[in-house]
Amino acid sequence: MADLKVKIGDITFSNPLIAASGTFGFGHEYNEFYPLSKLGGISCKGITLQKRDGNPPPRIAETPSGILNAVGLQNPGVDHFIKEDLPWLKQQDTVIIANIAGNTTEDYCKMAEKLSDSDVDMIELNISCPNVKSGGVQFGTSCESVGAITSAVRKYCKKPLVVKLSPNVTDIAEIAKAAEANGADVISMINTLTGMKIDINTRRPIIRNNTGGLSGAAVFPVAVRMVWQVANAVKIPIIGMGGITTWQDAVEMMIAGATALQIGTVLFNDPYAPIKICEGMNKFLDDNNIASVTELTGTIKPW
Ligand SMILES: Cc1cc2nc3c(=O)[nH]c(=O)nc-3n(C[C@H](O)[C@H](O)[C@H](O)COP(=O)(O)O)c2cc1C
Repeated sequence: MADLKVKIGDITFSNPLIAASGTFGFGHEYNEFYPLSKLGGISCKGITLQKRDGNPPPRIAETPSGILNAVGLQNPGVDHFIKEDLPWLKQQDTVIIANIAGNTTEDYCKMAEKLSDSDVDMIELNISCPNVKSGGVQFGTSCESVGAITSAVRKYCKKPLVVKLSPNVTDIAEIAKAAEANGADVISMINTLTGMKIDINTRRPIIRNNTGGLSGAAVFPVAVRMVWQVANAVKIPIIGMGGITTWQDAVEMMIAGATALQIGTVLFNDPYAPIKICEGMNKFLDDNNIASVTELTGTIKPW
């Protein structure tokens, strides 16, 4: 059996598969299918300083090979997360990542400060949510704003800091460099691509928010391209995501440059996907006489 463990800084993941933020809640529902220790980690639903109800429905629409969502960061707030959700999550023997979003830079800093005194293993800065009016992607689309928020949060963040990038930009490599230069320990990418679906009879957008974020298999080639570009631009590790559905996708994303992976939308079709992907990766590594999954990262041979 090949070694599936990956390391990011001082943190060891039992395998590269991490549940993506917003697609796994705080883990309770999936724990009915399997022990959460089967996962390398869990990136929890995005939390904000205060509780949020999210956007009005409809908030999700199916599209060819993907979904559009505009959930709008529904969550119970950071204090509730620390008090009620984190103690149980920490018993699950997997890496716990807190995913945070804010209306203002101060919100992000306050949350980073609170979470630094908690038991979370890593903090993931969501500056890429396309589905909220304030907070989210407006921090993530220019090098200046990404640099400013990363360096502000860095001052309060005593945990490894993951900066999650938006694909809705012109040059994602430049944005990644700004995050790295201002103190990010890790890049995670990609968040959803802004999309739209219209009912031709009512002529209304299907999603109440008008637009939503596209995820799932449809975005996979875009994510691979961006991970490859960013891997060529920064030295810090990348957690790659966006449409990973099969073990072949997982291997491909690592070859493109990812050290670890997150998977989200596929979980709605098949909650067992991470387990099946780990099994498939293991067999691929064994069949190819590769001792450790870490040997895949960044081994692309571009033309
Ligand atoms: C319903 C839904 C809710 C999401 N909520 C969050 C969130 O709270 N924070 C965040 O950083 N990303 C959020 N995302 C984005 C995912 O974490 C991930 O970046 C994206 O879906 C691409 O991966 P996938 O194609 O494997 O789902 C959400 C995605 C979906 C589908």
